[in-house]
Amino acid sequence: MTDDLSALQAETDAALAACADLRAWDAVRVGVLGRNGKLTALLRDLGKTPPEQRRDRGAALNRLKEALTAAIEARRGALEAAALDARLAAERLDPSLPPRPRAAGLIHPISRTMEEMAAIFGAMGFEIAEGPDVETDWHNFSALNIPAHHPARDDQDTFYLTAPPGSPPPVLRTHTSPVQIRAMLGRGVPLRVIVPGRTYRADHDATHSPMFHQCEGLVLDRAITLGHLKGCLIDFLRAFFAVPDLPVRFRASYFPFTEPSMEVDIGWDRKSGELGKGADWLEILGSGMVHPRVLANVGIDPREWQGFAFGMGVERVTMLKHGIPDLRPFYESDIRWLRHYGFNPLAPTMLHEGA
Ligand code: PHE
Repeated sequence: MTDDLSALQAETDAALAACADLRAWDAVRVGVLGRNGKLTALLRDLGKTPPEQRRDRGAALNRLKEALTAAIEARRGALEAAALDARLAAERLDPSLPPRPRAAGLIHPISRTMEEMAAIFGAMGFEIAEGPDVETDWHNFSALNIPAHHPARDDQDTFYLTAPPGSPPPVLRTHTSPVQIRAMLGRGVPLRVIVPGRTYRADHDATHSPMFHQCEGLVLDRAITLGHLKGCLIDFLRAFFAVPDLPVRFRASYFPFTEPSMEVDIGWDRKSGELGKGADWLEILGSGMVHPRVLANVGIDPREWQGFAFGMGVERVTMLKHGIPDLRPFYESDIRWLRHYGFNPLAPTMLHEGA
């Protein structure tokens, strides 16, 4: 190799070694092999070489071109690998890092309770049914065996809307029980549903709100008995309150749409508020065997189908479970209350595993 070619080789090697990234590398490449590159110029000048030296010079230039091209490509490979390594290091994910501070939003205790109910009853094969807040008189009362002027309507005084001419006024539903009627009409038998939802009554004090929530339940099949009702509700209450031996008492009562009817109480200590301890009883929900007339009202033959229903106040069980003393802040959107009683949305309820 002549001196000028050795010089170009050495100069290019040094420039390649010195370039720190692909941009610098590209400048070296263009400076040697580009249209105005140094090697390109030498090749162009080959014609000016005296004819007797031209062959050797041409062969030497070709070898140099191959060597430089290979060196340039090799450097590109090394720079690309280094760039990828740097990126991988910068974007590395460390799963052992502690989580970022949790988002400001929290799950409201009412929603949390409904999710827990859905999880527990879901594990028992219940589906969720829903209905409108504005109900017809028939769904809310008459079909449930509460005729007009029945005294049971007074217990559930509510908000009436303007009636279309000649018909009873629609109501804001006083309980979730009208969805029993809708589920029986819409889904038919056999049936196993719960109905979490909003309800309304014309009440307002420290323990009553004009808007509150209930969760209804309805099971219908050919051979459902009071024993199923008891087993289902005992299992639910023990799972929900997470007290495996929670005492549960069934006490005769009255609802127009069930016969026989029972209030369900759980054992607790009134003084300390501790559930499952002490000698006191606390009423938690209403229940009973679906009245044959209710089944007949929706065209289901009560000689063939029977079952049970229950209904409970969502606020009430939420207050008990979490020791929340007052009902009113549930609806006041006070961020301090929500921070205190709200639930982390990233910690879903797992209660069905214990049901
Ligand atoms: N609907 C009743 C109430 O609001 C509760 C209930 C539901 C009772 C189903 C029995 C069966 O008080």
